[in-house]
Amino acid sequence: MNKKFDKLPMKSPDLTADHIKQIGTLFPQVIVEIPGEDGAIRKGIDFDLLRQELTGEVVEGREERYEFTWVGKRRSMVEANRPVHKTLRPRISESKDWENTKNVFIEGDNLDALKLLQESYLNSVKMIYIDPPYNTGNDFIYNDTFVMDSNEYDEETGVIDEAGNRMFKNGKDRGRYHSDWCSMLYPRLKLAKNLLRDEGVIFVSIDDNEVHNLRKMMDEIFGEENFVANIIWKKRSTPPNDQIIGTQHDYIIVYCKNTQLLSLNLRKRSVEQESRYKNPDNHPKGPWTPGDLMANIKGGRYVSSLYYPITNPRTGQEHYPSSNGNWRYNNEKVDFLIQNNEIYFGEDDQGRPKLKRFLCDVKKGITWTTLWDFVPFNTKGSQEMIDIFGNLATFENPKPKDLIKELLKLGLSREEIVLDFFAGSSTTAHATLDLNYEDSAFHKFIMIQLPEHCPENTEAFKAGFKTIAEIGKERIRRAGEQIKTQIEQENAQSTLTGNPKSVPDIGFRVFKIDDTNMKDVYYSATEYKQETIEGLIDNVKEDRTDLDLLYQVLLSWGLKLDLTHTTETIDKFTIHHIDPENNSLIACFDSNIPEEVMRKIALMKPLRAVFRDGSFKDSPGKLNIDGIFKTLSPNTTVRVI
Ligand SMILES: C[S@@+](CC[C@H](N)C(=O)[O-])C[C@H]1O[C@@H](n2cnc3c(N)ncnc32)[C@H](O)[C@@H]1O
Repeated sequence: MNKKFDKLPMKSPDLTADHIKQIGTLFPQVIVEIPGEDGAIRKGIDFDLLRQELTGEVVEGREERYEFTWVGKRRSMVEANRPVHKTLRPRISESKDWENTKNVFIEGDNLDALKLLQESYLNSVKMIYIDPPYNTGNDFIYNDTFVMDSNEYDEETGVIDEAGNRMFKNGKDRGRYHSDWCSMLYPRLKLAKNLLRDEGVIFVSIDDNEVHNLRKMMDEIFGEENFVANIIWKKRSTPPNDQIIGTQHDYIIVYCKNTQLLSLNLRKRSVEQESRYKNPDNHPKGPWTPGDLMANIKGGRYVSSLYYPITNPRTGQEHYPSSNGNWRYNNEKVDFLIQNNEIYFGEDDQGRPKLKRFLCDVKKGITWTTLWDFVPFNTKGSQEMIDIFGNLATFENPKPKDLIKELLKLGLSREEIVLDFFAGSSTTAHATLDLNYEDSAFHKFIMIQLPEHCPENTEAFKAGFKTIAEIGKERIRRAGEQIKTQIEQENAQSTLTGNPKSVPDIGFRVFKIDDTNMKDVYYSATEYKQETIEGLIDNVKEDRTDLDLLYQVLLSWGLKLDLTHTTETIDKFTIHHIDPENNSLIACFDSNIPEEVMRKIALMKPLRAVFRDGSFKDSPGKLNIDGIFKTLSPNTTVRVI
C-alpha cells in the first residue's frame, strides 16, 4: 500500500508553544503574532490582554485605540512606496495582433507591475477584479523579500523558480499565517487604488479565511465610506459534507474610490422579464404591462380626494377603490391618463382599472442584489477550461466566466479598462472578450500574472505548460479564435441579410517584467541637456533592443502601453512613432544620427522626442540637437536615456 507517512519530529517538543496553545484554548483573543527574541515571528501572548481577562479592574497598559495592525504592516507600507529598478520588455512573438490590439498581458510579480504602471495608468482603470490566494492554509504565497528574510525562508518549504521567484506555503500553523498574507496584499491594494478612476470600482473575491482582514484593510485603504457591498456568490449547489454548517459561498467585496462619483450600471432585464411588456393595443409609447392603480391607505385614513369613481369611457361602468385603499392619483390626473389611453380595463373592458406601465418609462434596469445565486457554480469554471483545452484540468478552481461577466456588466460602461492582477487562467480576459462580442463594446483588459511554475505532476505541465502565465496567455489566444470562428459562421449564415459583424479586438500585447534596461544606475528620462552629450558611455545593457528601450520610455513618460506604434526608416535610421495620430512621441535609438536625419525628425514636430545618450557620441562636431529643435520645433520636449 502506498501510504504517506507523517514526518517524525526529530527534535524535542516546544513546550512554550504548547503552553501558548493551551492558553489560547481558554483565551483565544490574547493570541497574537509577535516577533521573538531572534526576530522571527511566532504565536505569542498579549500579556496586557491576558491580565485584563484575569482581573475585574481595568489594567493600565498600552493606550487603547481602534486599530488594525499585524506584524510587518509598517514594512509593507514602506514597500508600497519603494521604487523598482525594473522594466516591461515587449514580447511580440507571444503577443497576438500586436499592431492593433489594446489589450495587455504582463508576466511577472504584480507588485512590480503595479509600481511600473503607476504613471501611465494613474486614474485610468474603471474596474479592478482580483481573486488573490484565499489563504486556505494550502496556498503558495509569493515571498516578497520584505515579508520574510532569507534565513527564515530557508526553513520554509518553498520552491524557487528559474527567475529566483520564491513561493512559500502559508500553512495555518505558521506564526505569521495572517500577517504574511496581509503584508502581501496590503501594498498591492494601495498601489492598485492609485490606478482606479474616481468613478471606478474594485471587486475582490475571498472566503472566510481572510474576509475579516480584507474588510479591515480595504476600510483603511479605500475608506469605510467607500464600501459598496459584500456580494455572496453561491458557488456550490450542495454543501461539503465534512462540515456541520457547510459553506456554499464565496464573498466578493466591493469598494469604490469615491462614493459620490462612483458609476455602476443597473442590471439589465432578462429577455424573459422584458417579454412581460407587450403592446396589444399598438400604443405609441410602446410595450407596457398592467400595474396597480390603487394605493394602500396609510394609518387607516382615506384621502377623500383620492376616493372617487373611475368611469370606463367605453362601457360607462364605474369603479371605486377596494375597501383598503385609495386611487393612486386624483381625478384630474386619471382623466388625463384615460384620454391618453394609459388606463387598462382588462382584455374584455370589464375589469378594474389598472395603470399601463411602459417599458420606456421604467428604469433602464433593475437593482442588483447582494445574493448572487443567478450565476453558475464554480464547477462551471473548470468545465470552461476543459472546453478550451480539451479534456485537461489545466487550472485549479478558475472562476466561472459568467460570474466575471456579470461583474463587468455592473462595473464597465462602453470603452473602459479592466485590470486583474491575480489573473490565473485569465478568466477576466476571456469574459471581457465575450462581453465585447455580445454587447458590441470596446473594453480593454490588463492581465498581470506571475510565471508561477506548474508542478511536474500536473496535467498542465504534461500538456506542455511550464507556468500559469503560459496557460493564461494560451487561453486568451484560444478564446479569441473561438469568438472569431463564431462570428465568421454567423456572417456566413447571414450573407443574405447583409451587415456582417466585424471581429472585435481579440489580440493582446505581452510584456515581461525584467531588470531595467540601463546599466548600474537607473536613468529616468531626464530633461535633455547639451552637457549630457559630453563624455558619454553607453548606458544600455547589451541584450536590450530598441523596443525594450521604447517601452521603458513610455512608462517613465506616463504613456500607455497600448498606444499605436509604427516605424519608418529615414536614411537607414529607424524611427519609432508612438500614437502617430496625435504625434505623441518619436524615438530613435540608433547611434551616430546625422544632423540631416535629426532635422527631418524635428520637422515632424512631435510632442516628445527621445534619443539614446550614445546617439551622438561619434557624430561629427557633436550635433547641436538643442539648437535644431529650438529652431525647427520649439514645442517638442526632447529627452535622452
Ligand atoms: C486564485 S488564482 C486566480 C484565478 C483566476 N481568477 C481564474 O479564474 O483563473 C490566483 C493567481 O494569482 C497568481 N499570483 C499569486 N501571487 C502573485 C503575484 N505576486 N503576482 C502575480 N500573480 C500572482 C497565482 O499564480 C494564481 O494563478
